[in-house]
Amino acid sequence: MIKKGIILAGGLGTRMSPLTKAVNKQLLPLYDKPLIFYPLSVLMLAGIKKILIIVNKGQLNQFKKILPEKNNLGISIEYKEQFKPGGLPQAFTIGEKFIGKDSVSLILGDNFFYGQSLTKILKKNINLKSGAKIFIHPVKNPNLYGVATLDKNKKVINLIEKPKKIKSNLAVTGLYFFDNKAIEFTKKLKPSKRGELEIIDLLNFYRRKNKLKAEFIGRGGSWLDTGNINDFYDASNFISAIESRQGLKIACLEEIALNNKWIDKKDIKKSLDFYGKCDYSKYLKSLIS
Ligand code: DAU
Repeated sequence: MIKKGIILAGGLGTRMSPLTKAVNKQLLPLYDKPLIFYPLSVLMLAGIKKILIIVNKGQLNQFKKILPEKNNLGISIEYKEQFKPGGLPQAFTIGEKFIGKDSVSLILGDNFFYGQSLTKILKKNINLKSGAKIFIHPVKNPNLYGVATLDKNKKVINLIEKPKKIKSNLAVTGLYFFDNKAIEFTKKLKPSKRGELEIIDLLNFYRRKNKLKAEFIGRGGSWLDTGNINDFYDASNFISAIESRQGLKIACLEEIALNNKWIDKKDIKKSLDFYGKCDYSKYLKSLIS
């Protein structure tokens, strides 16, 4: 059972410059919440309460203002700094102490997941005992992502980062479940041509040992990109449309914590003070009235 999760929220966000010159990408608004609320909500929906957030050097205070270590969400949040963006697998060496002897989930701070099937899929896979699990989703532009090729039995037979020649339209999303070997394997990785440790290389370690499994997010779920400005706005519009139609919020962290019975009315009241008068608080009030 995975009980710990890491959110990788560093990176330079160069594709979103100048927005990201002074503010970390994960703190930019995705419609009505900071982007980081969305990946955090995914971990919380999976039932994960122990969270490590990895941020760029010098940005700790920005993050702690919105997600303090002592929070009203019934979860524990720790922070670590990444000295310089050296690739996604660094999460496992930076997070080595946090992970200890356990298995862990990694989610990229800029990934947005949504859908009915999501919680079901998370709960189904959270019991990972050994190996690694990836979550795949078809896309129109696979050359922008890590891409998986599967055989007839849904076994992963090939994984490539941002392939030039497209053999499969199945993108590897930024949510991963790993056993404890991720730390050991990461230490064996060598930087790629672009000078970074690659998550696909780490996953290939598992694949070669027959220890990698893939799960489809499926049509009942969405995985949206927030890679560039247009994607960011598309995702914002998507959230806006769903929230105004349903009157329900996506990634309301307090609501998830309340449903998980991690917090009660008293904590929601504390959150009302924390956020002050705003639409988000109005929504929180509606949860307890
Ligand atoms: O979004 C899914 C894709 O994410 C996967 O399909 C790819 O296999 C994977 O490599 C990754 O590709 P990206 O090109 O989108 O990764 P990017 O460099 O944009 O980083 C993703 C997030 O991780 C972003 O929020 C910044 C953060 N990050 C990234 C690096 C390289 C860090 O915090 N530290 C880092 O060193």
